[in-house]
Amino acid sequence: MEIIHRIKNIFQGTFGHVPDYIARAPGRVNLLGEHVDYNDGFVLPAAIDRATYIAFSPASTPHSTLVAVDLNQQISFSPQTIPSKTQPDSSPLPDWAHYPAGVMWSLLEENLSAPAMNAVYASDVPRGSGLSSSASVEMAFMIAWQTLGGWTLPPMQLALLAQKAENKYVGVNSGIMDQFASACGAENKILLLDCRSLEWQTIPLPESVSIVIADTTIRRKLTSGEYNNRRAACEEAVRLLQKDLPEIKSLRDVSVDDFNRFSEKLPGEAAKRARHVVEEIERTNQAQALLEAGNVQHFGRLMTECHVSLRDLYEVSCPELDVMTRIAQSLEGCYGARLTGAGFGGCTVNLVARESANDFAVSLAKKYEIETGLHPQVYISRPSKGAELIYSYSSGLNPLPKIS
Ligand code: GLA
Repeated sequence: MEIIHRIKNIFQGTFGHVPDYIARAPGRVNLLGEHVDYNDGFVLPAAIDRATYIAFSPASTPHSTLVAVDLNQQISFSPQTIPSKTQPDSSPLPDWAHYPAGVMWSLLEENLSAPAMNAVYASDVPRGSGLSSSASVEMAFMIAWQTLGGWTLPPMQLALLAQKAENKYVGVNSGIMDQFASACGAENKILLLDCRSLEWQTIPLPESVSIVIADTTIRRKLTSGEYNNRRAACEEAVRLLQKDLPEIKSLRDVSVDDFNRFSEKLPGEAAKRARHVVEEIERTNQAQALLEAGNVQHFGRLMTECHVSLRDLYEVSCPELDVMTRIAQSLEGCYGARLTGAGFGGCTVNLVARESANDFAVSLAKKYEIETGLHPQVYISRPSKGAELIYSYSSGLNPLPKIS
């Protein structure tokens, strides 16, 4: 693969030898269960066939040196500079470097070895597109430090440590879905995660359908503030509902009927946010049976309802996402279309009859471009394996034939 050769060559040019290892960690798309992971609900993501790739070796310096190929930047940090988010020369770490530095921070907090490394990484998950490019970076570094540190943890534990990096070091209060999907992905499978118990299982993607991802090309700034606000509104709703429903711990514990009984006691904004969550969890409760029965029509309708709810109640859509889903729903073979991920721009996910998927992708791109003047990326995506070491120069593990 071209991206692997690129990072390998850049590694060699930067550090003077071939990398010892190469790892990959995928992005994800979420089919149903949006903005419910931090409310203890259920999510149905899949790891996608786009990923962050990292070439790495142990370093003989006290600090780690990282080259981000896509940004054409190089930085360093060490356990001593991590708390102040600086480099060894005292200059501040750029924002993008907080993700790998956060992973090292999180590992050191757990007393797990995170030795200094030289690394070069690149990604074909578009940044800020709602496909979890940051979780894929975190998981790629998790695999790298797991390899160099000589310890092994189950993928879910790696995901939890990456989430801690994002919550506590980067400062985004995200749930577990993205790191989980990147860590635990499975080929041709949708993942069903209970975000309270962390129990999960895979569901085969019905053979009759394809997942089509459509990137509006819109990137919103300041989304982390909006995201944290949404989360705070849900917590406020729980606090207020507890007066009438003292046994609830999160919105997961509130049935649609109970919510309807007490919702008018909530301030307007918290009521809208919480209604989305309660109804979305109810939609995800139906999902498994529908997918297992191959009832893609009904599942698709739930996806479309989810978009309406994210647009009107959770208010995380934008005009371009609405245009993209509206066009998609008018095309042959489309069962469901909605924004995926946190929202405010980025991608839609579409469930499309397999035999219509190619024509669907072409027409969607064309019509979106005519309506908005923007050039979208629309592609058929395949659920993929989770984060893994794919090449080890020293042990000959899964050597990629094309790497010499
Ligand atoms: C972001 C977060 C996830 C999840 C989604 C919305 O991707 O990282 O934890 O909350 O938004 O479903």
